[in-house]
Amino acid sequence: MVTKEGYDLTNNFTPMEFYLKTERLDLGMWEESDSIWFRQLVGERGIDIPTLDDARNQIFDARKRALEQGISLLTIRRRDEGDFIGYCGLVIGRSTLEEPEIAFELFRNSHRQGYATEAASVIMDCAIATGRHRIWSTVRAWNVASFRVLEKIGFERHHSTWDERGELVWNVRELK
Ligand SMILES: CC(C)(COP(=O)(O)OP(=O)(O)OC[C@H]1O[C@@H](n2cnc3c(N)ncnc32)[C@H](O)[C@@H]1OP(=O)(O)O)[C@@H](O)C(=O)NCCC(=O)NCCS
Repeated sequence: MVTKEGYDLTNNFTPMEFYLKTERLDLGMWEESDSIWFRQLVGERGIDIPTLDDARNQIFDARKRALEQGISLLTIRRRDEGDFIGYCGLVIGRSTLEEPEIAFELFRNSHRQGYATEAASVIMDCAIATGRHRIWSTVRAWNVASFRVLEKIGFERHHSTWDERGELVWNVRELK
């Protein structure tokens, strides 16, 4: 069934909140204008930067998927400065809609100020409110900062898998 707000309720979970506030941050649904920041963020990964059209299309797809799945990555803005610093949210990723992954990525110049932990904490509160029992996060073995963020929000290392890029560590948090 699709509600008048556009949510597909064929899964058994309450849709997550798409607009959230923390002490210093505003999290929200992607807007077309965020394509500029999204391109810059991808650029910091050192891989090919998507064209503006590609970035816009990815944002349209993300908005559509959010309505279909009831989960999404959300933009993160600092409230006082109003600037986009990255994203955090829930995605199917390598897991499932029932037990999705939490993911986060911030501009380098905003690292190590506790922003990812602050955003991820409110996303975990949201995950609980959707009625889910377990959240995963897959992290490359070298990614110390991500492990630390996950540890701070209650995740534990569970198991590893290997692919062409090496070891991938699966971290889990059970939601009570
Ligand atoms: C992972 C990421 C989102 C963390 O963002 P952040 O806002 O800097 O995170 P926080 O400030 O909330 O916490 C980071 C923690 O990691 C620690 N840390 C960061 N870099 C570290 C390093 N190289 N070695 C050891 N600890 C490190 C920080 O000290 C902090 O821990 P502390 O609070 O105990 O001091 C950010 O590094 C990022 O965007 N990385 C690139 C994208 C990415 O890897 N995403 C995750 C894919 S799974």
